[in-house]
Order: sequence, then C-alpha cells, then structure tokens
Amino acid sequence: MTKISAAVFPGSFDPFTNGHLDILTRSLKIFDRVILGVLHNPSKNTLFSVDERAVLIREVCQPFGERVEVQPFSGLLVDFVKKTNTRVILRGLRAISDYDYETQMALMNRHLNEEIETLFLVTSEQNSYVSSTLVKQVATLGGSISTLVPPSVEKALRKKLGART
Ligand code: PNS
Repeated sequence: MTKISAAVFPGSFDPFTNGHLDILTRSLKIFDRVILGVLHNPSKNTLFSVDERAVLIREVCQPFGERVEVQPFSGLLVDFVKKTNTRVILRGLRAISDYDYETQMALMNRHLNEEIETLFLVTSEQNSYVSSTLVKQVATLGGSISTLVPPSVEKALRKKLGART
C-alpha cells in the first residue's frame, strides 16, 4: 500500500478564515503536502473572485512554503483530486450541524470515485462558530472580525466592502 503524503483541502474560501487556517495547520501534522482547491463556480455569487481568493490564500499560507499549494478548480471535486494524484479530501467539522451536509458530500464523492476517501478534522473550539458567511455579514455591518480572519483577509474584506458601499 502506497503511503499517502498529500491531500486536497477543498472549499469556496470566500474568504479564507481562521477556521480554515486551523484545519490546514492540523492537516499538516498528518500530511507532508496539502493542496488547497479553491472552487470556481460561475453560478455561485462570491464576494471575491476565484483569483482574488487564491492570491489571498497564497499570502496567508506563505509561512508553510512548498508544503501548501493553492489551485483553483471547477467541475467535480473528485476529478480535481484525481488530477492532483492524491486520494484524500480533507474537510473541517465545526459542529454537529456540519455533519449532515458533509457526510452527504462525502458519500456522493465516494459514489463518484470510491478510490478517494474523505477525512474530517475537527476545528478548535475558538473557531467552532466561524464561517465565511458570518464573517462577511459581521464585516458588512461594521463588527470586529480581527480574531476571525488573518490580517491580510481582514484588510482585503474592508477594502472590498468599502468599495461596494
Ligand atoms: O467551502 P464550501 O463552499 O463548503 O465547499 C464546498 C465544496 C467546494 C467542497 C463543494 O461545493 C464541491 O466539492 N464542489 C464541487 C462540485 C462537486 O464535486 N459536486 C459533487 C460532490 S458533492
């Protein structure tokens, strides 16, 4: 059996939060290399374009060096995972409320390609309520997000929301 040294951590990352960073940091204790797959879905209305999200994540992940790679993808996740020559999908679980959606996706991905496994990592308690959606909402309404996202993401969010108002 070949040793698995790399995994794919997929998401919309609109934007990348401290919760995502927490899962990524945990995953690097298990895998040598992690590929962050940034979903490009033209039918989904994202605040940041896929290129903006990828640039922001690359900036945040710079300290990890070559161990973290950021790649935009579109289409089926299992096809992207196959193209990267890996076999593991990493997803973070915050609360029991994530469980239904995440297991449904994991089972669908297994149906599509049974060679690929989904691995769940549980986020730290202080990030258990952090989501990109809530971060955007709080930032839009002028609340503090400094402990919820990396500084560069906060700056980009402020700039983007300032430009929209
Ligand atoms: O951060 P998100 O929005 O919860 O991430 C969801 C993501 C990107 C993992 C999911 O939407 C996805 O895998 N999209 C690709 C389309 C796909 O493969 N669909 C079928 C399997 S559910």
